[in-house]
Amino acid sequence: MKITVIGAGNVGATAAQHLAYYEMAEEVVLVDIAEGIPQGKGLDMYEAMPVLGSDTRVTGSNSYEATAGSDFVIITAGLARKPGMSRDDLLAANAKIVSSCAEQAYAHSPNAFFIIVSNPLDVMTYLALKKTGLPKNKVIGMAGVLDTARYRTFISMELDCSVEDVQAILLGGHGDSMVPLPSYTTVAGIPLTQLLSEERINAIVDRAKNGGIEIVNHLKTGSAYYAPSASAVQMVESIAKNKKRIFPCAVLCEGEYGLNDVCIGVPVKLGKNGVEQILEISLTDNEKELLQKSADDVKSNIAKLAEMGF
Ligand code: LAC
Repeated sequence: MKITVIGAGNVGATAAQHLAYYEMAEEVVLVDIAEGIPQGKGLDMYEAMPVLGSDTRVTGSNSYEATAGSDFVIITAGLARKPGMSRDDLLAANAKIVSSCAEQAYAHSPNAFFIIVSNPLDVMTYLALKKTGLPKNKVIGMAGVLDTARYRTFISMELDCSVEDVQAILLGGHGDSMVPLPSYTTVAGIPLTQLLSEERINAIVDRAKNGGIEIVNHLKTGSAYYAPSASAVQMVESIAKNKKRIFPCAVLCEGEYGLNDVCIGVPVKLGKNGVEQILEISLTDNEKELLQKSADDVKSNIAKLAEMGF
């Protein structure tokens, strides 16, 4: 198993560190255009392995040749938000970066699964799908795992219970119009609606929706990276170990939920073939409307990409 992480910034480096620490691959390659950064961080991580007890070899490079034959490519490259910015403000700059990274990585690893982390997430996943020409089961956007992780954390804080017992799913784009589904949230099998008032649930949903900007406002110079990188690694694990876990991920919809030609967060099963199934769950009219609105937002950004010539 060989895994390439593109972008040696906070998200990429932390993802590489998790992958190596959990011995998810024999080899992890960190790639970045910044000279010396992937080499330095990669070597530093490799030197941590004797202490951590992992035989994963971590290397860093400025060249895609080092990535040849990867089983997974995780794209984290791109600009991060600053306070006052929305994820959509990153569209033009990150489209250029992500399309170049996807094309170059695909040229060296045509059989890899691509996990997309760069923002705006859903649009970048669509772009990577088009630029690589890979089938839709192999190009997967990360954000639903992150958004549910935040939501699960806030529920566990509120109920003073284990985060592990909180199970949740959400739909829609990784943005202001994401669609959390309290009716599909349980705590050790108990519906959340039996444990918390509607008012408290709404407040938690709201905090989860704004979870990204809450971190940006604290950090001021960048966006979250511990939870985003852990989320990408969990998706890799489910595919690499054929665990068939069900996560909300951004994938191409072709008729599911009445959506077409858009990558957006839906519940998927991740196994050795990548996306093995998109699960269609029943939604209330209001949830359907919110999902449609979220898909319209993503589609308008996809249309902007076309106008920009991508
Ligand atoms: C976030 C960014 C990474 O949600 O989109 O933190």
